[in-house]
Amino acid sequence: MTEEQIALVQANWAKVAPSADSVAALFYGRLFEIAPEVKPLFKGDMTEQGRKLTQMLSVAVNGLNNLDKLVPAVQDMGVRHIDYGVKDEHYDSVGAALLWTLGQGLGEDFTPEAEEAWTITYTTLATVMKDAAAASTA
Ligand code: HEM
Repeated sequence: MTEEQIALVQANWAKVAPSADSVAALFYGRLFEIAPEVKPLFKGDMTEQGRKLTQMLSVAVNGLNNLDKLVPAVQDMGVRHIDYGVKDEHYDSVGAALLWTLGQGLGEDFTPEAEEAWTITYTTLATVMKDAAAASTA
């Protein structure tokens, strides 16, 4: 990921982060529409869950400049997701819902360059999570 892509993702996130609760609500609405099979995995209050997700995304987005420092927390999160019943194939739906939500939230700021930078960001996080999950059950 280039420095420009990191800066773009961080600038995009700074724009949507003040509306984190509505971004999260939009995200889960979309996720459960495109992947209804994951809905039963979520057992708690969805406002709280949305806050955990957007807080973690803030940490991740702001940590992109220092991936080595970020990776252990993301690995731990990947391992915890096994217990939530999350499977590798669910990551694609979550990524699609996240990109769609960013498109809604950012409007014309969601340029093709932004979409590419977010795709790399999400793929990086998802790969670290899935690899850690796989390693912990091997
Ligand atoms: C970059 C990807 C993801 C991030 C940043 C993320 C973030 C989080 C965070 C911060 C939590 C709170 C608990 C904890 O920290 O362990 C959580 C819980 C959870 N996540 Fe994720 N997650 C991601 C991917 C996914 C995927 C692909 C699924 C599949 C559907 C998923 C489903 C869940 C579920 C079911 C819970 C627990 C809900 C509950 O306790 O009721 N997550 N996630």
